[in-house]
Amino acid sequence: MFDEYGIPRGVELDEAALPKLYHFVYCSRAAEGVDDAEVSRIVETAQRNNFAHGITGVLVFGSGVFFQWIEGPAAKIQNLIAILHRDERHYDIVSLSQSEEERERLYPNWDMEKVEAEDIRLVLEDALENADDKNNRATLTRILEQLDAGPLGRG
Ligand SMILES: Cc1cc2nc3c(=O)[nH]c(=O)nc-3n(C[C@H](O)[C@H](O)[C@H](O)COP(=O)(O)O)c2cc1C
Repeated sequence: MFDEYGIPRGVELDEAALPKLYHFVYCSRAAEGVDDAEVSRIVETAQRNNFAHGITGVLVFGSGVFFQWIEGPAAKIQNLIAILHRDERHYDIVSLSQSEEERERLYPNWDMEKVEAEDIRLVLEDALENADDKNNRATLTRILEQLDAGPLGRG
């Protein structure tokens, strides 16, 4: 017999049963003139497009810096990465992490949420606290270390 997810009853859910997810995490600097209103427009576009493409994630903005986590089907994410690199509203895109894994979504319910920049570390620390997945934990730990060492760090 199968349950409502089509998985045979009595079979343990293991990592092999999880879908393949591609994730891309980066920081960038906002171009001159990009203000809160422009960021709101970016978020509106992102919400519309991302929902249609099965992409979820979080966008953090403040002090002229973007931090974004996007996750979804590999082809859709790679297409979005190319689009992001052409967008002149930001520059100095620094890739912090990207790979494809069989894992749960870190942001299953956020087609694209905007968070203030003071919360960058809190967002990551919170995600780390809630992440059961070992791949997610390793990635988040590495990004937090990079933030500490880099221009966004505590100095
Ligand atoms: C920092 C930043 C983050 C963005 N994030 C997304 C995103 O998650 N999804 C998206 O579709 N577009 C995002 N965009 C906008 C894209 O670069 C591009 O303008 C948009 O996808 C074009 O969509 P449209 O053809 O529907 O207007 C982002 C832009 C910036 C500057």
